Amino acid sequence: MSYKGIADFRSDTVTRPSEEMRKAMYDAEVGDDVFSDDPTVNKLEELAAEKVGKEAALFVPTGTMGNTIAMVLQVGEGKEIILEEKCHILNFEAGNISRIARAVPRALPSDRGKIPLDLIEKNIHTTLRDHMTTTRAIALENTHNTWGGAVLGLDYLEKAADLTKKYNLNFHLDGARVFNAAIALKVDVKEIAKHFDSLMFCLSKGLSAPVGSILAGTKEFIKEARFVRKYLGGGMRQVGVIAAAGIVAIEKMIDRLQDDHRRAKLLAEKIADLPHLRVNPQEVETNMIMVTLNSMTSDSFLKKLAAQDVLALPFDAKTVRIVTHKDIDDNDIERAITAIREAVR
Ligand SMILES: Cc1ncc(COP(=O)(O)O)c(C=O)c1O
Repeated sequence: MSYKGIADFRSDTVTRPSEEMRKAMYDAEVGDDVFSDDPTVNKLEELAAEKVGKEAALFVPTGTMGNTIAMVLQVGEGKEIILEEKCHILNFEAGNISRIARAVPRALPSDRGKIPLDLIEKNIHTTLRDHMTTTRAIALENTHNTWGGAVLGLDYLEKAADLTKKYNLNFHLDGARVFNAAIALKVDVKEIAKHFDSLMFCLSKGLSAPVGSILAGTKEFIKEARFVRKYLGGGMRQVGVIAAAGIVAIEKMIDRLQDDHRRAKLLAEKIADLPHLRVNPQEVETNMIMVTLNSMTSDSFLKKLAAQDVLALPFDAKTVRIVTHKDIDDNDIERAITAIREAVR
């Protein structure tokens, strides 16, 4: 249900914690997590690792920090990482690859997040010549935010993983919304995660926790990740108060993502029937809709929606993003359709 009468479709990050999360936070048993003494954080990390089928996991404050730690450990100074050109790590994480990991990004084009495998292979540098650095890692994003929540399928992931094995590269997943991908593919999330050496997923997006993400991988990797988190200033103390909501997120909030997907599809189909707007419902695979405006700018369109207490996000001058999530119900979808119809009239 919308919060204070505003149907907020800007992002799934706007979700408020559920009552159950707030109660769990209140009741959480805590300790000093820098000493590994916080039982609630320890429980969350065990649960998260088990959920994605990895040996260990680390609770981090943000997805950006999780990805940054992975860049430091999986790539390293002066080495190259292959990424998709519109990915979050490269475009929306304030230059973490260069500033912190001091690594070299090699950005490649894609078909909705899928970089052609032959293009990846052509861009892997293995021989160290005195004017060329070597490729150390590949990172993919599933679901892909800028590509409107597009899903990378298991077949593609398997083939990409084969390449990483062939060239002995580290393979990282920005899985901020990996549970949306698993729901869309109708598979256990482990089937996605198993292809990667490390993955980050967010508790604070569709899963609705107020704060936090998880970085998962081998025990050795997570031991090192803990150290990197510390020097990035992410060693938190009685953080079980937040981790408690993360536990509820993993235990209770995954299956309901299918409602978000259903609503996004429905809304996309309705928008596709309206004049002056372009949307391809076939491309709405998860909880995001990218709408192209034929005759209006994003700003003027969004102002008209906001006047009716419906919010969405400008992506560029002619594209807006609409995201469904826990705090959007069927009634909000109807409100959005009415507001959009009115805005393009
Ligand atoms: C695909 C993707 N990766 C990483 C992040 C970063 O997460 P955070 O905002 O918690 O740093 C986001 C946030 O929107 C995202 O969409």
